[in-house]
Amino acid sequence: MRTHYCGELKQQHIGQEITVCGWVNRRRDHGGVIFVDLRDRKGMLQVVFDPDDAAMFADAERLRNEFVLKVEGKLRIRPEGTANPDMPTGEVELLARKLHILNSSETPPFQLDDDEVHDDLRLKYRYIDLRRPDMQYRMQLRARVTHFLRSWLENHEFMDIETPMLTRATPEGARDYLVPSRTYSGTFFALPQSPQLFKQLLMMSGMDRYYQIARCFRDEDLRADRQPEFTQLDIETSFMQEDDIMSLMEDMMRELFQSVMNVSVDAEFPRISYANAMERFGSDKPDLRISLELVTVSDLLADVEFKVFSAPARDPQGRVAALRIPGGNSLTRKEIDGYTELVGRYGAKGLAYIKCNDIDQGREGLQSPILKFLPDEAIAEILRRTRAQSGDLIFFGADRANIVNDSLGALRVKIAQDLNLVEDGWRFLWVVDFPMFEHDEREDRWNALHHPFTAPNTENADELEADPGNFLSRAYDMVLNGTELGGGSIRIHQQEMQLRVLKLLGIDQQEAEEKFGFLLTALNYGCPPHGGIAFGLDRMVMLMAGANSIRDVMAFPKTQTAACLLTQAPAPVSDQQLKELSIRVRKPQS
Ligand code: AMO
Ligand code: AMP
Repeated sequence: MRTHYCGELKQQHIGQEITVCGWVNRRRDHGGVIFVDLRDRKGMLQVVFDPDDAAMFADAERLRNEFVLKVEGKLRIRPEGTANPDMPTGEVELLARKLHILNSSETPPFQLDDDEVHDDLRLKYRYIDLRRPDMQYRMQLRARVTHFLRSWLENHEFMDIETPMLTRATPEGARDYLVPSRTYSGTFFALPQSPQLFKQLLMMSGMDRYYQIARCFRDEDLRADRQPEFTQLDIETSFMQEDDIMSLMEDMMRELFQSVMNVSVDAEFPRISYANAMERFGSDKPDLRISLELVTVSDLLADVEFKVFSAPARDPQGRVAALRIPGGNSLTRKEIDGYTELVGRYGAKGLAYIKCNDIDQGREGLQSPILKFLPDEAIAEILRRTRAQSGDLIFFGADRANIVNDSLGALRVKIAQDLNLVEDGWRFLWVVDFPMFEHDEREDRWNALHHPFTAPNTENADELEADPGNFLSRAYDMVLNGTELGGGSIRIHQQEMQLRVLKLLGIDQQEAEEKFGFLLTALNYGCPPHGGIAFGLDRMVMLMAGANSIRDVMAFPKTQTAACLLTQAPAPVSDQQLKELSIRVRKPQS
């Protein structure tokens, strides 16, 4: 139907007979001439309708936004002084000879170039929203990313293998989406939270290097970077150690950024231990574009009068940390109240601070409600450790270590954004040396920090069982600009170790057999050492596109409350269907 895309026409096409198809982006009537910006996947082109052809002109007058057209005509240069430098096709225009109105459109529910449209409206009319040039760009970027990754992996001996969607629960730690079985009444499939167990089985099947662009389902609390249904670039390899896997994945990311974004990424990604990341950034996915760091000062404050500080300073589970804000002296009372409210959301009971008016004057040059509680030596050492300068402000968090880390970690990022302290660039890193287990105080049990198939840094199961809190796992996370892009590990490949780890997690042999019997059995039939990683593809594209939410890089995402506004899913089903599935439910009230 067409000879060219609208967006690709340039000076070199001038004088040619052209046919284009697309949507009316805008119509303007200009003293007897009608201009239409016609839009397609590659961009916009100005089409001109002259009044000479009265019938065609009358048709052109009927055109409204989002009408679908085919236009034939000759491409010409725009008259002197009318070129539009903001438009890639801004030097040319199509003088229409023939107009075919292929379809009309009702008035769209929102203007495509309106930035203030409510998200719900965009999602309900997603097919219109996706016509917007920035959404077109994001979808194209996503396709380029997946294309690159597939070909890179294929070139490195990885094989694309599909794994089932209807399966058993996989323990990634979220709630499952369940699918009732009709043929086995009362039983359920679970949609996979990841292909974890299948990719391990594929290694046991001798596939050696597997990848899949796999859909995963997790019924969890949603955020900007979480959807109930999302996509992983899932990878597993045999006979590779963590160093080999990490450096291979670094190569892949570097080449991806070079190829798709034309960005050179540093030679080697820094590796930071989990403990170090928590200590310095209060987070296991630190944004290295921000240079602010947390500094521990517990040891200086164990004996001060101020209980707020001395109690956590003495508590082995506690922490007192300082965060210096360069130039923060100028923060107002109201701004500090705002930050106090922010840390409160992470459980902090307050946000003590010291303003450094003039560092050379010692105590006299400082200003703080808590100054009176602090001895001179402690103050001097705090200033030294935080490298405080005149004009700075130092915030303090004092509580259980996890509360201090979460709250000051979040404060670090928020303040850096507010004060424009986030540098440009792409700061990748690996976080390594995660603890194998985390102790859940309330339930007095051990939880896996990664998943239960991750290998510990010991091969001695007795040793592990004797002191689970003291072992690290062989897991690694790739982090980019404060987002966890991916995570993986070397896996357990021996049944005995797997059973012991499950036991430590409170899963006895019987339950283990019931839930993972197939895996445990397979471990005994020649399982190779193996390991892998999974990247959040949506998150990767979100960062590359500069988008704020993974929804912006998914064609048909769900809302924050896990519903699809376009199709109105989830939806009630007929009684007959429920009966076949042996399910009785209370009907939702309409
Ligand atoms: P994990 O659970 O860390 O590991 O997931 C891997 C990556 O997937 C992305 N991700 C999500 N993206 C969008 N919405 C979500 N709800 C969501 N949850 C996770 C993140 C995360 O880093 N099987 C293991 C991987 C392995 O061990 O190989 C796994 O799924 O970017
Ligand atoms: P108060 O004695 O409660 O008035 O607190 C004095 C200062 O310490 C105030 O600035 C509080 O915001 C701050 N503060 C109180 N609890 C904590 C805490 N757990 N961590 C950090 N600062 C705190």
